Amino acid sequence: MTSLVEQSKKLCAYKAVDVDLDPSKHRVIGIGSGSTIVYVAERVGQLANKSELVCIPTGFQSKELILKNGLTLGSLEEHPEIDIAFDGADEIDSELNCIKGGGACLLQEKLVGDCAKKYVIVADERKNTGVLGRHWRQGVPIEVIPSSYTKILLQLEKLGGKPTVRPGAPAKAGPCITDNGNFIIDCDFGEIPAAKVKELNDKLVSMVGVVETGLFVKMAQKAYIGNNDGSVTALA
Ligand code: A5P
Repeated sequence: MTSLVEQSKKLCAYKAVDVDLDPSKHRVIGIGSGSTIVYVAERVGQLANKSELVCIPTGFQSKELILKNGLTLGSLEEHPEIDIAFDGADEIDSELNCIKGGGACLLQEKLVGDCAKKYVIVADERKNTGVLGRHWRQGVPIEVIPSSYTKILLQLEKLGGKPTVRPGAPAKAGPCITDNGNFIIDCDFGEIPAAKVKELNDKLVSMVGVVETGLFVKMAQKAYIGNNDGSVTALA
């Protein structure tokens, strides 16, 4: 039997595609990563004109989803202007700032989001916490160049964070390696008030060795939240 959370992921994803994707105008579509985006790809794959669309992935799982749903795979190099992109989130605050990167795809996700004219988040209600850092106590994912990780751990501690290097899958000894060959450091900063998210992100990206962070500062124009009671809340 499908769980309430799973149902809420599907509901918000279908709603986001039905309301925000205009098949007569939108041709280049960004497809994010995670378990909620599975339903976005499924819904896009049900569009009558799906053969006219090009989908830009944010990682390996995303590529597989595009192909599995009979959609055309494109690249950011060919399509640096994306009409609309959909993605999941680990946490969303009251100003639509997000923490992303639970699946270690934050760099490619941020690239796709940055290239999108419209960026839409889909998530179940557990992610809608009002303030970042409330639910996702694993911290802010930070992608770093492997040789820089010890110096960045020190810098993050000096900044007041509690950083840990994300381990790889159980079968693999050593750290998680991203699609770009980098490490992920998860850094817990406690709750991050909306007014402080940009300041924190600026400090993190200024550290030499940091490639990108999972703080998505006011990138999303809309978020669809799937609730356990079967309703969907649209935030904008
Ligand atoms: C991937 O790196 C993440 O940013 C995901 O988009 C995020 O973790 C949301 O995943 P779920 O839809 O599985 O919650």
